Amino acid sequence: MIVDNLGRSFKNLRVSLTAACNYACTYCVPDGKRLMPARNELSARELLKLVGYIQEAAGIEKLRITGGDPLVTPKFDEFLLGVSKFPLRDISLTTNGQLLLQKAAVLKESGIKRINISLDTLNPLKFKQIARGGDLDIVLAGIDKMLELGIKIKINMVPMRNQNLSDVQRLLEYSLQRGIELRFIELMRMGHLLHGPSFQQEFLSMQAILDEIAKVHSFQRADAPFDSTAVRFHIPGKGYFGVIANESEPFCTACTRLRISSDGYLYGCLSSARRQPLGELLEMPRYLVLPKLQGLLLSALGDKQLSFQGETTVMKFIGG
Ligand code: 5AD
Repeated sequence: MIVDNLGRSFKNLRVSLTAACNYACTYCVPDGKRLMPARNELSARELLKLVGYIQEAAGIEKLRITGGDPLVTPKFDEFLLGVSKFPLRDISLTTNGQLLLQKAAVLKESGIKRINISLDTLNPLKFKQIARGGDLDIVLAGIDKMLELGIKIKINMVPMRNQNLSDVQRLLEYSLQRGIELRFIELMRMGHLLHGPSFQQEFLSMQAILDEIAKVHSFQRADAPFDSTAVRFHIPGKGYFGVIANESEPFCTACTRLRISSDGYLYGCLSSARRQPLGELLEMPRYLVLPKLQGLLLSALGDKQLSFQGETTVMKFIGG
């Protein structure tokens, strides 16, 4: 295992299957145009091969499938079923939920236990304005179906001052009623939000989010695993929610995440555009791959920052 001077190592791998997405969310896509795949995306087989190597070289324990939206690519089924055979402690998925109903059978077959669903509002009109694609009722039906299958759901909401502040309360009630843990993600300065006024206009801090919730609920801080990105809260008798307080309480010094983009680059940090190419490993004999990978992993670990500075990279490529 490779460890840096803050004790950080890579335990969690996030694999973006495609940059394509059937949404064009305001915080991800500046012009509202639907996202396309990256130019040279790898196949499921190639990605599985890389995951196997990285798992061996870095001692990865947990893997999350991301995108774009991972359910829009035809390689999803092969990748999910393939990776489910790896010796990993945990496999999870982040999706906008638009295709969950269609994918219910393969999700069940894979034995996946946890899915995070991005949902920023329960208001159909606002949904169209923020996601700029898809349909709210289909997402809600998808969530019901996953709960029916016994899959644990978390919802990710990005609260924004002028777009969905009034949904904080509504989404919390919806989630508490269903035993779902809601995660509020503080808006991150990525892509087009790095420069220009939108970030300042829309950003809501953890305190602002908590103040909104405190109008209705009393809650206290709860325990969270040491390398968790979320600050968790308990509403006695009702359930839990979390805040990913990327600005207010940065978690960089405990970060154990590593990312692969759909075109085969390794990213050590969401707040750094630096990346290491993995494509050449696919052509190399196995005995050369692991030493080479050790070097790439060391570089990626060196890219980890002490705090989140923002980046021009966008979630669509590296899946958040
Ligand atoms: N700030 C905060 N969250 C974001 N996401 C995508 N872009 C941003 C951003 N700029 C969220 C998505 C998804 C999660 C992986 O990251 O809504 O739920």
